[in-house]
Amino acid sequence: SVPSLASSDEFLQCLREKIPSELVYTQSSGNFTDVLASSIKNPKFFTTSTARPVCIVTPSDASHVQAAVLCGRKLGVRLRVRSGGHDYEGLSYRSACPYEVFGVVDLASLRSISVDRPDSTAWVDSGATIGELYYAVAKNDSQAAFPAGECPTIGVGGHFSGGGLGMIMRKHGLSIDKVVDARMVNADGDLLDRAGMGEDLFWAIRGGGGGSFGVVLSWKVQLVQVPPAVTVFSIAKTLDQCAIDILMKWQDVAPSLPADLTVRVKVQGQQAVFMALYLGTCSSLVSTMGDRFPELNMTSADCRSMTWLESAALSFTDMSSTGTVEDALLSRASGMSIATKGKSDYVRSPISKNAWKKIFSWFAMNGSGLIMLEPHGGFMDTVPADATPYPHRSGVLYVIQYIVFWQGDGGAASTSWLAKFYDFMGHHVSKNPRQAYVNFRDLDIGQNVPVNGNVSSTFESGKAWGERYFMGNYQRLASVKAAVDPTDYFRHEQSVPPLLQRS
Ligand code: FDA
Repeated sequence: SVPSLASSDEFLQCLREKIPSELVYTQSSGNFTDVLASSIKNPKFFTTSTARPVCIVTPSDASHVQAAVLCGRKLGVRLRVRSGGHDYEGLSYRSACPYEVFGVVDLASLRSISVDRPDSTAWVDSGATIGELYYAVAKNDSQAAFPAGECPTIGVGGHFSGGGLGMIMRKHGLSIDKVVDARMVNADGDLLDRAGMGEDLFWAIRGGGGGSFGVVLSWKVQLVQVPPAVTVFSIAKTLDQCAIDILMKWQDVAPSLPADLTVRVKVQGQQAVFMALYLGTCSSLVSTMGDRFPELNMTSADCRSMTWLESAALSFTDMSSTGTVEDALLSRASGMSIATKGKSDYVRSPISKNAWKKIFSWFAMNGSGLIMLEPHGGFMDTVPADATPYPHRSGVLYVIQYIVFWQGDGGAASTSWLAKFYDFMGHHVSKNPRQAYVNFRDLDIGQNVPVNGNVSSTFESGKAWGERYFMGNYQRLASVKAAVDPTDYFRHEQSVPPLLQRS
């Protein structure tokens, strides 16, 4: 049924009875807009036509999340969950349907991190950022680290819900590969840990995409060891400097280099930038590169030695550093000046030289953005495709992330370029299904269809995106969903639909 405005009034009343009023912001609260905007990354989802929540609840305790879920279920108002607000489609705080009545549970105040050094584990709340996590872990033990993504303002909650890939995944896997326990509130408002939720649900929340199974409040993670110093480099090659030949060699070697070494590539304009993180010293990096990848001509002059924490504070698009580690990792101001649109692909067979030549011609066009190529292999190859919902494991050479960006209203040229380029790339990437990464969320590949102001979701229609994000794991995710949330309370444009058994 379509929640009416009356039910939203009753919903707010219900929240006020159970949650301290200073933690509930309604559209008439003076600072509603500031709280809504606080972690929005993408200005295209902060406009006068964006569907806004009727309220934002900012819990300071698990009981507030439980109360919000119970009020929402009782009164037919859905909740969207926000941790860091970096969702590429803004699904943690906006609805694609202009009529949907929904509330937001914003976990930004639930952000504590406690590290258990003897045990080499940590509990981290979903509202913490990955920058805060890196900082807490490495300040506790300078040789401890955690595998996750590259932009420090990403929220732990959404990031872990979808996987969490980054510069040390070839050695240590995704964030979800190191999650050993979690606490969450399910659709019945119960607070559960791993033992309470059971292994199926625990499996599903580690990579099955945010916003489908409940509200994960905190995660217990296994920390990993890194050497006291790591080495990074960034080497740009233009077309005249044989960028294409070097890329051809990169496709061959990057997924099979020693797992301590990750060399990723950014292609933008008429150049490819090779950016590396090596968990070791400059001299052994120079020797490995000389043996395995001499075409890049990397020398000790390219090396920059630093701690792992310092490397995590480098800019994720060019490996440059500005300001202190604290400025880079602890500031929660994510800024809203640049609008973006992203997409993703996985490559299982090397892209031909001829195709690379054509790809570069796309990057000479008006509206072109960039692609980031991140090699898999190493640890990633050792994890069975069904061990977690993230299925892109053995056999994947690299993931491609496409990003276009613009300021103001000028998005048309960029988004049109991206759509056409993505069509072109379909010939050169994984097929049947064409794979995609749920954390690079893309509503173009399919969504639950709005009907009468509500959202309908079926297992069949969800295959359009579900099988691309999760491949063979989609069906198990939908079965878990049916077991834990059969009425599909936690639902958004790309949530996993319940696979209900027909009687
Ligand atoms: P946000 O709060 O927007 O949530 C994302 C989704 O998860 C929403 O559907 C939301 O409802 C749900 N959700 C959030 N918290 C939840 C919780 N506690 N329980 C249940 N559901 C929850 N990825 C990557 O793997 N490696 C990388 O290097 C990068 N780099 C990167 C850079 C930049 C600039 C951006 C904008 C994004 C990335 N990403 C990435 C993608 C990122 O991992 C993805 O957007 C995450 O979902 C963001 O998590 P947030 O908590 O910030 O998002």
